[in-house]
Amino acid sequence: MSQRSEQFPLGASIRVEDLQSFPYEFLARLRESEPVSWIPALGAWLVTSRDLAIEVMRDAEAFTVDDPRFSTAAVIGQSMLSLDGDEHSRHRRAFAAPFRPALVRDKYEAVIWNLAKERVASLAGDGSAELRTALAAPMAVDSITTFLGLSDVDPSQVLDWYGKFSDAIVGVTLGEDVPTSGRAALDQLYERVAASVEAGTSEFLNTLRDDAILRSDEVVAATAVVMFGAIETSEGMTANVLWHLLTHSEILAQVQADRSLLSSAIEESLRLEPAAAVIDRYATADTQLGDVMIPERDLVTVSLLGANRDPSVFPDPDTYDITRPNHRQHVTFVQGPHGCLGVHLARLETTAALTAVLDQLPDLQLDPAQSTAPEGLIFRKPAAVTARW
Ligand code: HEM
Repeated sequence: MSQRSEQFPLGASIRVEDLQSFPYEFLARLRESEPVSWIPALGAWLVTSRDLAIEVMRDAEAFTVDDPRFSTAAVIGQSMLSLDGDEHSRHRRAFAAPFRPALVRDKYEAVIWNLAKERVASLAGDGSAELRTALAAPMAVDSITTFLGLSDVDPSQVLDWYGKFSDAIVGVTLGEDVPTSGRAALDQLYERVAASVEAGTSEFLNTLRDDAILRSDEVVAATAVVMFGAIETSEGMTANVLWHLLTHSEILAQVQADRSLLSSAIEESLRLEPAAAVIDRYATADTQLGDVMIPERDLVTVSLLGANRDPSVFPDPDTYDITRPNHRQHVTFVQGPHGCLGVHLARLETTAALTAVLDQLPDLQLDPAQSTAPEGLIFRKPAAVTARW
């Protein structure tokens, strides 16, 4: 047994699969006795308490994303996801205006509510559907392609690009080269985004181009990041809310009767099951974190799922309680310089999808035999959430 494993015996006993399907008990035990623990199965330090998670997220000088091992950068090139310091600020500044809540509301609210209504109307006559693939996933693709002025691109084409891009990232993480299929998919996407920039069809891209903070090649790379940052996460966010409401019929009935509760139902679902469950950082120097000295260059993985279930902030943390006064203190959208830019768009999208479901599908019930709980190490969502109405 290595010295680290002797120092962190619980971490040494954790297997990757322990953190995949039902990780809550493992995360709770780690938080209790080793809130910063060396997990040999991940090759990383895992942070599970909310205060230490926030310390890592807020201190980009000590815990950076800017490291050659970061696989997303190897596949799509440098973007705000893989930069820190002044360069990160320059990239991110370009996006501050287009993602402002008022702009998102004024330009996209009506369109996204319509997308949701039409999508649910197309299912209403069927009497049942698997709502992750029939609603959450297409809403995620439709919303972000609308935002980027790419709504004439076939959604199956977007998902195909997405799949090849994800495969390339996984491959690079395992030490492989970027595959030709991944490169080709990115080239096609870049071509379409460049055409959209040129045509000026997206309010979002127009702002980026007109403000001229980024070079045109950077605008294209950044929109790819936005697209890929949005798809899996917002699909998971909507699917997880559907799961939580359908598995708590009394809460579903309350939200059905009083729509002002929907926002709390969404925030509490974001707390319990963050669609992106972990974020990675690299130590820039030997750094003290809690009781542990993290050596320079080590990988530090923050468990957003662990932080969101910290009982010192959220009593009875595993319960879906929409009356919890502080559910908005979840860290699902991250704190600090890399805080999610898509929050307003994502909340709008999920609210629209859920409202359309509540309005248009009467007597909604879960089909438990055809549904599964959210799962996943990095991205968490149910494989199937099937409802009848
Ligand atoms: C419309 C949908 C979305 C868009 C356009 C979007 C966009 C982005 C962008 C551009 C960043 C990078 C910010 C930076 O590095 O400075 C980011 C970060 C992040 N987003 Fe989102 N996002 C969306 C939805 C979501 C959802 C639904 C979740 C989770 C439920 C999520 C979780 C995160 C997380 C965890 C990060 C931080 C990554 C890190 O620090 O390593 N996002 N998002």
